[in-house]
Amino acid sequence: MEQPDGFLHTSLTVQGGVPLKGTVSASGSKNSALPIMAATILLDGETELTNVPYLSDTIMMSRMLNALGIRAEFHSNKRFKIRNSGRIKPIAPYELVTAMRASFFVAGPILARIGMAKIPLPGGCAIGARPINLHLKGFEAMGAEIRLEHGFVFLKANELHGAKINLDFPSVGATENIMMAASLAKGTTIIENAAREPEITDLGQFLVKAGAKISGFGTQTIVIEGVERLNGTHYDVISDRVEVGTLLIAGIVTKGDVTVKNACVDDSEPLIQKLKESGVDISTGPDWIRVKPNGELKSTDIVTLPFPGFPTDMQAQMMTLLSLAKGTSMIQESIFENRFNHAHELKRMGANIKLDHNKAVIIGVNSLSGADVKITDLRAGAALILAGLAAEGHTNVFGLNFLKRGYENLPGKLRELGAQIEEQST
Ligand code: UD1
Repeated sequence: MEQPDGFLHTSLTVQGGVPLKGTVSASGSKNSALPIMAATILLDGETELTNVPYLSDTIMMSRMLNALGIRAEFHSNKRFKIRNSGRIKPIAPYELVTAMRASFFVAGPILARIGMAKIPLPGGCAIGARPINLHLKGFEAMGAEIRLEHGFVFLKANELHGAKINLDFPSVGATENIMMAASLAKGTTIIENAAREPEITDLGQFLVKAGAKISGFGTQTIVIEGVERLNGTHYDVISDRVEVGTLLIAGIVTKGDVTVKNACVDDSEPLIQKLKESGVDISTGPDWIRVKPNGELKSTDIVTLPFPGFPTDMQAQMMTLLSLAKGTSMIQESIFENRFNHAHELKRMGANIKLDHNKAVIIGVNSLSGADVKITDLRAGAALILAGLAAEGHTNVFGLNFLKRGYENLPGKLRELGAQIEEQST
């Protein structure tokens, strides 16, 4: 599939002060699609995934599968087709893994499938150290030999076996990588203190559909009974709860009336609770969420936590909202150690934010003012565009490449709701 023009744009200009109104549809979840795409390394034959968002990160994962010897490509209507003949190459290309941390998801599947893997140490957004020790701890417990040399991780196991693995922290990526590897291991693997994010459940359901024997996903204890083989299947990826939340906040900060359809309402519950505490009028249906103006926004305190706590991926967008709420709010970021870069740019727009290590104190202001700002990571980009929508005057947002990693045409979706946004290629 050709890359749409949006991929060429590097900056955008937002005209603030326009209340957004109408209904918009959420895309498929990036954080579900990426591990599910990687999991197709484990499957024999043909697989079709639907509701896969077309993003630079999913394009990169598609290239990764190709580089590993798997035929994989996007088709129209967000369909992604994979044909896996079982001839998997053991080496993941440096330029793909260092550009996207989620590339490391291929480690567990390659190891389980062919008994060896050589993967460069991963890269990704600059929001913290983000080590992979928990992934490796899991592989080691399943019998893999691990060597770290010259920036590569070498993994080897003639046969992976089941193991009891207690994660020191419920890491999303480690839970997923271990779940995938254990699906083809000999015997039973039990992951304790597993992550419970909806994207884990989505990966679990996909693997079960392909023939895996897994129970307990969505809880702290996941039990995986290894099977001999997994077979190609069809699977529909869940919708993106972070995109849903971002579009809702766009409605809130512009004092508009926005409905997001194709939403997983239960998965958005931690955010919905905080929006209610902030005084937002919010209503839900089976697959939609609506926000309407309800007077002044109120301050609230937030601590980011593993699911079902408040998601770190919505922290930046909530900081924009709380910058405009009456009173003093506090945000504590407890998942990543360096995820407040957006605060510096929000301050350029008139926000009153004080940072102290992993805590931010936000004193609400009456209005923000348009400025030139720079995106430093994916969700920071969303926060700055939201601020631009709410601000007086126009805001130039630079560094759109970060935004395209995880949002499927966010400027276009905001325009559907009446936003005045123009993208530029500089
Ligand atoms: C995933 C999401 C990301 C989200 C994050 C937390 C994808 C593609 N990305 O990232 O959007 O913000 O979950 O919800 O799904 N850690 C270790 N050792 C490890 C692994 C992680 O110390 O082996 C630490 C990390 O440095 C970080 C914390 O654990 O501080 C959370 O990381 P993790 O849950 O693994 O996040 P990701 O899977 O990288």
